[in-house]
Amino acid sequence: MDFKYNVLIVDDVVDNIQMAMNILKEENYNLTFALSGEEALTLLEQNDFDIILLDIMMPGMDGYEVCQKIKKIDKYLNVPIVFLTAKTDIDSITKGFSLGAVDYLIKPFHAEELLARVKTQLELYRSKLVLEEHNLSLEAKVKYERKRILHEMEEGQKEIIYMLTEMIEGRSQETGEHVKRVALMSKLLAEYHPSLTTEDATNIFHAAPMHDIGKVSIPDNILQKADALTKEEFEVMKTHTTAAHKFLKSSKRKIMQSADIIAMQHHEKWDGTGYPKGLTGDEIHLYGRIVSIIDVFDALTHERYYKEAWEIDRSIEYMKKHAGTHFDPQLIDIFMEHQNEFIAIVQS
Ligand code: C2E
Ligand code: SIN
Ligand code: SIN
Ligand code: SIN
Ligand code: FE
Ligand code: FE
Repeated sequence: MDFKYNVLIVDDVVDNIQMAMNILKEENYNLTFALSGEEALTLLEQNDFDIILLDIMMPGMDGYEVCQKIKKIDKYLNVPIVFLTAKTDIDSITKGFSLGAVDYLIKPFHAEELLARVKTQLELYRSKLVLEEHNLSLEAKVKYERKRILHEMEEGQKEIIYMLTEMIEGRSQETGEHVKRVALMSKLLAEYHPSLTTEDATNIFHAAPMHDIGKVSIPDNILQKADALTKEEFEVMKTHTTAAHKFLKSSKRKIMQSADIIAMQHHEKWDGTGYPKGLTGDEIHLYGRIVSIIDVFDALTHERYYKEAWEIDRSIEYMKKHAGTHFDPQLIDIFMEHQNEFIAIVQS
């Protein structure tokens, strides 16, 4: 093994250093010495020592002061400092410990004692480092796992939403593709709207697929009717906007709250002739106004039980003609400006 511990010996008396080095050279250590506190601090900055043997009584900076300065250097926070002292009075030893020393040796020391103490402190120091590293990697692992689980839950929720909406749309002849197109186009229109943020666009993207979730409560004979609905049947059909409200309203999740708004308001009309509440203009939430435009455009351009798919030009004309009556005119302007992108999506 070519790993070697770096040991620093600090003492103003050359003979003491000589003696310590003679004993410690038995072990495979890199030995360095300093003859003063000032010199020691310079060496400490330039190198990385694993243990410091520190004389207390020195001219200039004494061992206590050196010890205090060492403890302020980040990389030495946990590096063991062993005091070497001729003093035997309990006060100086206590002071040494209070400054952060981990051990002390009374001079002159026995060879075995010096070797044993240095070895013990180095081993303790190393286990501490290993433990710290272990704790750090454990913390990172926990963080990573937490993130992974959260991501999986979010993905799982999205999947459930898609499955539910596909089931519902399946019954009403609208496929999962309809749901995806409505999500994509609603997000696109939101992104072009000057007062909506990227976060709004993402919300709409995840919430828009649920706009017709209330159709789950509409019976097949109405939902799948090949002809125009009677007035009574249409009244039942209208309840698909309010049907999901009692479930969605209680959610604290932003996406579910957005879905609630969109489900409730996607058949409201700008001029107040829509349902279920007959709201007008900006009484209708922007999310609702956006999905209203996209839902109609997608419905017109695709086949339903009760209608053929319309040509693109006819559908675009319909959207234009109903700006300011059915639809928010500002949103229709944006829609028309970028119509090629929306047309590309309905044709996909
Ligand atoms: P949907 O099929 O997804 O249609 C959504 C909206 O697109 C409709 O909301 C309407 O505003 C527009 N739309 C769709 N097809 C046409 C169309 O051929 N002409 C015009 N002018 N607009 C169209 P609306 O009218 O509130 O209908 C809500 C839902 O009620 C429809 O969703 C559909 O599931 C059902 N529905 C509406 N009318 C009929 C019908 O005559 N027969 C049957 N079987 N279902 C209908
Ligand atoms: C639909 O009208 O939603 C079905 C057509 C398609 O998935 O592209
Ligand atoms: C409607 O969906 O509003 C009526 C169906 C149609 O005009 O084809
Ligand atoms: C309609 O309002 O359903 C007919 C409009 C059109 O044919 O463009
Ligand atoms: Fe609807
Ligand atoms: Fe729809």
